[in-house]
Amino acid sequence: MTNDAGTHLPIEVRQLRHSYGDREVLRGLNLTIAPGEIYALLGGNGAGKSTTLSALLGFIAPTSGSVSVAGIDPATDPERARAQLAYVPESVALYDHLTARENLDYFLALARAPRSADDVIKPALDAVGLPHHAWNQRVSGFSKGMRQKVAIALALARHVPVLLLDEPTSGLDPRATMEFNRLIETARDRQVTILMVTHDLLSAVDVADRIGFLADGQIEEELAASEGAARFDLNTLHARYIGAKVAA
Ligand SMILES: Nc1ncnc2c1ncn2[C@@H]1O[C@H](COP(=O)(O)OP(=O)(O)OP(=O)(O)O)[C@@H](O)[C@H]1O
Ligand SMILES: [Mg+2]
Repeated sequence: MTNDAGTHLPIEVRQLRHSYGDREVLRGLNLTIAPGEIYALLGGNGAGKSTTLSALLGFIAPTSGSVSVAGIDPATDPERARAQLAYVPESVALYDHLTARENLDYFLALARAPRSADDVIKPALDAVGLPHHAWNQRVSGFSKGMRQKVAIALALARHVPVLLLDEPTSGLDPRATMEFNRLIETARDRQVTILMVTHDLLSAVDVADRIGFLADGQIEEELAASEGAARFDLNTLHARYIGAKVAA
């Protein structure tokens, strides 16, 4: 499906249903994310957030409904869909015996992306703010925050239009979380569209343009950031998240 300008939307999920065995997890999920938007997907444990990412990645096939990444159906064309995506799972898998630069070089080669340390890798590592002294260090000693920087540098170096993040800030300290939030804004400023699954309300309030609540297999409610200082009200979100009635 295309938008008004005739181009494909980065993420489009229509009436998505998915079951594991006889357990239906997604029950008609609709999710559309516009170019350059940061969308935070919230929901309790087991709500189906990671399953939604798996559908976008082509790891699972919908029982019914449709999923599209930049106009490509990951269920039928997973390789082409994944070429549009960078996926950052909760724990980033890197080759521990390789340095940060070597990891980028290796993964860029796997992605068949053009790669040259000076032209592609250095600007990407600069953009994510990985300290220079760490570039040529083995990643085995890297913290979670540093590993995420490497993963996002890879996304920037690949110039993918869509970034999927699964609980990126869980286990990060407040400072690393703030750095991470600035980092995804850097990606957004480069026209990357971001879907972030999270339980971290502060981060969602900080960076998201829209927040969606997943419950009973659907996006039960969506909130859009208002312009101005008070983008989202944390107390309202918190009450909503724990299932309390939110005063109108
Ligand atoms: N491969 C699988 N086989 C069977 N059941 C699964 C599988 N993956 C997930 N599930 C189940 O589907 C439901 C949704 O799982 P999912 O991982 O999408 O939830 P989630 O919203 O990401 O939760 P969390 O916040 O705990 O990460 C859960 O009940 C889970 O146990
Ligand atoms: Mg999950």
